[in-house]
Amino acid sequence: MFLCCWLALVALIPTTLSINPGVKVRLTEKGLEYGRQLGMASIQQRLKTIKIPNMSGKKRVSPIGKVKYSLSNMQIVNVGLPKSAVDLVPGTGVRLSIGNAFISLRGNWKVKYLRIIKNRGSFDLNVNGLTIATSMAIKSDETGRPAVSSVNCAATVGSARIKFRGGASWLYNLFRKFIDKALRKAMQKQICPLVTRAISDLNPRLKTLNVVAKVDKYAEIEYSMVSSPTVSKSSIDLSLKGEFYNIGKHQEPPFSPAAFSLPPQINNMLYIGMSAFTINSAAFVYNKAGALSLSITDDMIPKRSPVRLNTRTFGVLIPQIAQRFPGLMMKLLVKTAKNPVMTFEPNNMTVQATGTVTAYAIQPNATLSPLFILNLETSFSARVFVSGMRLAGSVDLNRMDLTLGTSYVGEFQVKSLNNIIQVVLKLVVIPQLNVQLAKGYPLPTLGKMKLVNPQLQVLKDYMLIGTDVQFTG
Ligand SMILES: *[C@@H]1O[C@H](CO)[C@@H](O)[C@H](O)[C@H]1NC(C)=O
Ligand SMILES: *[C@@H]1O[C@H](CO)[C@@H](O)[C@H](O)[C@H]1NC(C)=O
Ligand SMILES: *[C@@H]1O[C@H](CO)[C@@H](O)[C@H](O)[C@H]1NC(C)=O
Repeated sequence: MFLCCWLALVALIPTTLSINPGVKVRLTEKGLEYGRQLGMASIQQRLKTIKIPNMSGKKRVSPIGKVKYSLSNMQIVNVGLPKSAVDLVPGTGVRLSIGNAFISLRGNWKVKYLRIIKNRGSFDLNVNGLTIATSMAIKSDETGRPAVSSVNCAATVGSARIKFRGGASWLYNLFRKFIDKALRKAMQKQICPLVTRAISDLNPRLKTLNVVAKVDKYAEIEYSMVSSPTVSKSSIDLSLKGEFYNIGKHQEPPFSPAAFSLPPQINNMLYIGMSAFTINSAAFVYNKAGALSLSITDDMIPKRSPVRLNTRTFGVLIPQIAQRFPGLMMKLLVKTAKNPVMTFEPNNMTVQATGTVTAYAIQPNATLSPLFILNLETSFSARVFVSGMRLAGSVDLNRMDLTLGTSYVGEFQVKSLNNIIQVVLKLVVIPQLNVQLAKGYPLPTLGKMKLVNPQLQVLKDYMLIGTDVQFTG
């Protein structure tokens, strides 16, 4: 009884623990159509490699007697795939149908009869009305990349027409049937294996999905699939992890992705939904790595600013500082106290960051004397944009709120420091942060993929990039 319940429970675990993706990628019918064009070119190349072996034999023909014949040097000269279609098969994959295709080949013929008479020439064979139907399944491989396989294939060869050059017309009549049948058979046998090869040719390309993409010295982002792709009647959807990690040390943040679903848009080939989770996992990594801290000295403040980092400027607001530390330069250490949190509302991205500002006086012997620690609550509005194959951003200060953490110089009015800290944030901290944010991080990509006219929308809990794509190699 216990065992049975236990087994039932274990069987349930995979579904109850299923991970929500941080990033969703949708390939629409428009994207599939572009894929069809690329795929047709690849199938055409493959079919041009059809090899027809030499054929030879003997046939008794009255009144001539035994005729020895051979066909050789047969080469495909043209493959035409004028009509093809791809259709999504919900739950399975993609069906590819090719109709009205044609293959033409050229070869040499040779006959020998009545012991001494030899005759030779060339021939053209045109095979028309070729149809190929194949289905392709799409799955996740062991590395979390998509992989395709051909699940079935059927090829039928329609009519064939042979034109002989050289030789007598009776030869044509004699061999027409044989050549037609044998060659069609030889050809037909090779079509499906070559189409299957053309489909597997996609896999090396799909293997280029950047399942782990380096961002900078601190972070990498993981784009492996968390489940198999889902195929609906209008799209193929991939669920990617979309999580930032500290390089070399994968620690999970204390929050997980919320479920989100992409809107039913169809105008672009590809849609990428990037969740707030992905961005917040970045904040977690950088905060944890201590990268969200900045030491500010007077030389970092533009010359034009009347605010200087010295005990004279601060002494105007807090007289104890001017008295106890006269004529000294100062240093401010601004750092986050916990993970900044990004919130996505339609057309509105906000970052809330909590941190501290520690002020020091720099003694002539370079020792730092702490003056005070302020708690800093900030709200930024963020802007994101696609730059090449990267997603970049910038922030602007919305609001800032200071409270006293610790004072080493006695009591003072924290409010009096509002202006000075705001100037430091606007002139130093935010510009430096924006230099980093402008570098961006890699989007999921396949091989030499280019985004064409990408557009970005901020929606509730995720952002949506709609784009066309182009492969340049
Ligand atoms: C086919 O026949 C041609 C001409 O006789 C010859 O040169 C060629 O080597 C043959 N190919 C094979 C694979 O036997
Ligand atoms: C943006 O969202 C934040 C909360 O997420 C809200 O406080 C702010 O008012 C919003 N701004 C606009 C312009 O809607
Ligand atoms: C540096 O100077 C300060 C103030 O004059 C003094 O208190 C401190 O002990 C000095 N530190 C060192 C390491 O000399």
